[in-house]
Amino acid sequence: MGHKGGASLLLHQYLIFLSFPVIFLPLFAHSQCNGRNPVVLNFGDSNSDTGGFAVGLGLPIRPPNGRTFFHGSSNRLSDGRLVIDFLCESLNMSYLTPYLESLEPNFRNGANFAISGSSTLPKFVPFSLDIQVLQFLRFQARSLQLLSQGSRGLVDEEGFRNALYTLDIGQNDLVASFTYLSYAEIIKRIPSFLEEIKSAIWSIYLHGGKNFWIHNTGPLGCLPQMLSITSRNVSGLDPYGCLQSPNDAAKVFNEGLRALCEELRSQMKNATIVYVDIYSIKYDLIANSTKYGFQHPLMVCCGYGGPPYNFNPNVTCGQTGYNICEEGSKYISWDGTHYTEAANEIVASKILSANYSIPNLKFDYFCHTS
Ligand SMILES: *[C@@H]1O[C@H](CO)[C@@H](O)[C@H](O)[C@H]1NC(C)=O
Ligand SMILES: *[C@@H]1O[C@H](CO)[C@@H](O)[C@H](O)[C@H]1NC(C)=O
Ligand SMILES: *[C@@H]1O[C@H](CO)[C@@H](O)[C@H](O)[C@H]1NC(C)=O
Ligand SMILES: *[C@@H]1O[C@H](CO)[C@@H](O)[C@H](O)[C@H]1NC(C)=O
Ligand SMILES: *[C@@H]1O[C@H](CO)[C@@H](O)[C@H](O)[C@H]1NC(C)=O
Ligand SMILES: *[C@@H]1O[C@H](CO)[C@@H](O)[C@H](O)[C@H]1NC(C)=O
Repeated sequence: MGHKGGASLLLHQYLIFLSFPVIFLPLFAHSQCNGRNPVVLNFGDSNSDTGGFAVGLGLPIRPPNGRTFFHGSSNRLSDGRLVIDFLCESLNMSYLTPYLESLEPNFRNGANFAISGSSTLPKFVPFSLDIQVLQFLRFQARSLQLLSQGSRGLVDEEGFRNALYTLDIGQNDLVASFTYLSYAEIIKRIPSFLEEIKSAIWSIYLHGGKNFWIHNTGPLGCLPQMLSITSRNVSGLDPYGCLQSPNDAAKVFNEGLRALCEELRSQMKNATIVYVDIYSIKYDLIANSTKYGFQHPLMVCCGYGGPPYNFNPNVTCGQTGYNICEEGSKYISWDGTHYTEAANEIVASKILSANYSIPNLKFDYFCHTS
């Protein structure tokens, strides 16, 4: 592949010229991003993993995951699209390709570093938040290097500078803590989770990122997975049947995250950091479930054991013996931990309303900065 004659070089350019209107024009014409190619770089856990776990570990996420939208495995933990997929749709851009995808990746609109099971701590294990950020730094450096050597279809320097950096992590840190720590001990560990998030945002900022979109964590005490494991050190149900202490821990984490965003806003020149209150969105969904068309706010669509939660850690969705609901759209919880596509779609529409954002910016705000 080393030698290129003048004629083939010309042909190469010609082909690229010819294909330009076909490949690029529809993107610009339909993009909501002010004529710009929207770039999103995402970090997190299964809430926004669009296939990273499957390609990174070689462990497929099997049907019935994906049954509603992708009609087959989508390598997402849901029956269909995730919140991040709906957010990408709102920008008329393609779904995010996992950073680790080795076969025909499409990184034109950014990349996804989120991997199911990820947490902020412990550090330096695949795929903790600090590893995801290191992967991003490598991705950025390598993209720019390849572009300077003539590669195409990658995010350029301006693309990285104008990109939106989205983050949704912390759920696994908190949920895992409930298996072996007391509430008081968990609360004491929260600042160390937030410290990791702070250092992730600083790393990205110091490498040119300035637009951030930070999701807080949901009402973990409403997850059927948490509700069904009574041996955990949790107690007390709220009026909607959710466990009080995991929800309280989530609120403490979220308050710290909100304060962190405020602190970073005052320190990072030219940066915009949007904090999104996912907790309120999801809690409203559960508390007012019938209003949103859900019949079973705390019961799992794909699981085992029947009411009240249809969740059993020994027979989770996809494992031998599981049962599955007829209509996923009547359930909030897909598998005990992850939401159904129907729930994700409502969560995304609430995010897009900007009613839950501090400051009240829309998801596409980064399209209008320069
Ligand atoms: C998004 O794309 C669709 C179809 O390609 C188009 O009809 C719509 O106008 C686009 N939206 C925006 C805001 O660009
Ligand atoms: C459970 O939590 C209580 C306080 O909330 C604590 O005193 C107790 O040690 C914890 N038990 C375990 C097994 O962690
Ligand atoms: C902030 O933006 C202004 C205007 O675009 C630019 O001149 C300045 O260098 C930026 N400062 C930093 C710290 O990036
Ligand atoms: C349920 O909906 C009502 C009416 O919109 C709202 O006032 C209330 O805050 C919601 N409940 C929760 C827990 O979000
Ligand atoms: C799961 O399996 C273990 C070991 O067989 C058993 O002790 C436990 O009771 C089971 N849990 C449930 C909820 O069925
Ligand atoms: C956002 O807030 C406005 C004004 O309060 C309200 O009319 C609208 O219904 C809200 N949208 C969502 C999705 O909550």
